[in-house]
Amino acid sequence: MNHPPIAPERLPELLRAMPKAELHMHIEGSLEPELIFAMGQRNGVALNYPSVEALRSAYVFNNLQEFLDIYHAGTTVLKTEQDFFDMANAYLARAQADSVVHAEIFFDTQTHTGHGLGAETVINGLHRACAEAPARFGITASLILCFLRHLSEEEAFECLEQALPLRDKIVGIGLASSEVGHPPEKFARVFARARELGFRLVAHAGEEAPPAYIWSALDVLKVERIDHGVQAIHDAALMQRLVAQRVPLTVCPLSNLKLCVFPTLADHNLRRMLDAGIVATVNSDDPAYFGGYINDNFTQTFAALGMTSQHAYQLARNS
Ligand code: ADE
Ligand code: ZN
Repeated sequence: MNHPPIAPERLPELLRAMPKAELHMHIEGSLEPELIFAMGQRNGVALNYPSVEALRSAYVFNNLQEFLDIYHAGTTVLKTEQDFFDMANAYLARAQADSVVHAEIFFDTQTHTGHGLGAETVINGLHRACAEAPARFGITASLILCFLRHLSEEEAFECLEQALPLRDKIVGIGLASSEVGHPPEKFARVFARARELGFRLVAHAGEEAPPAYIWSALDVLKVERIDHGVQAIHDAALMQRLVAQRVPLTVCPLSNLKLCVFPTLADHNLRRMLDAGIVATVNSDDPAYFGGYINDNFTQTFAALGMTSQHAYQLARNS
């Protein structure tokens, strides 16, 4: 369906109201400082920051690893199934305000089992929020379990094993955390096993690491979708393949800005990717840490790159 172009001054309203799917967000990255403090208080977990404002003002990062360290500290307040429900419910309420109609939500079981929680505490709490989302918010939501790539493949196998009794509550498997030095090949066997088990497969690739990581996410892990993938622009043969095979990229512009993948939003390659025929989508990644939810990602990126309503319709269709 072709939509008529609209005047630039009406673009923010189109971006806000347009129905969209969010396909790349880490639920732990939606924990706002207010909720971190509230949960810390109710669970008796002390934080290294004296106030909500002090915590928020620490959200300045030079790279992915600096972010991951503070993101991990935020997760220490999560203790009960109710905490996981509350975190996901708060995100879904916020997503509804941004006209999200479908969300595929990443979570890292290993972060929480590393703090002594059971996988079922995590998965049951998140899943209950997803199951209630159609009635509460008019949103369908599903869960993707991300292995942490800085840990071993053996630990990923253990994580998969722990999730299997709750298999029906998880739609897919992904790969997140520190990218450089932890290539997709490290997880070849556990992804093959997840594939045999019928999980849908995605992986972060080409966020900070070179295009070779995207090639091996596709060829070794056999993922259906690439999370980030912005480094593909440096490899013409890879770009051709992504276009020809319509491999979706879940792009997260404000994340890339905050983690210094691009020096400014005006340098982001989203527009070039779309104009080259890449099936790109716009997503928030870790909205509590990166300065905005999905609509902030749309409006700020469109303004910085001079994108049009036709790009908006294309992105919504892609998602
Ligand atoms: N975990 C949470 N956010 C992430 C990101 N942007 N890249 C890799 N792992 C993550
Ligand atoms: Zn991510």
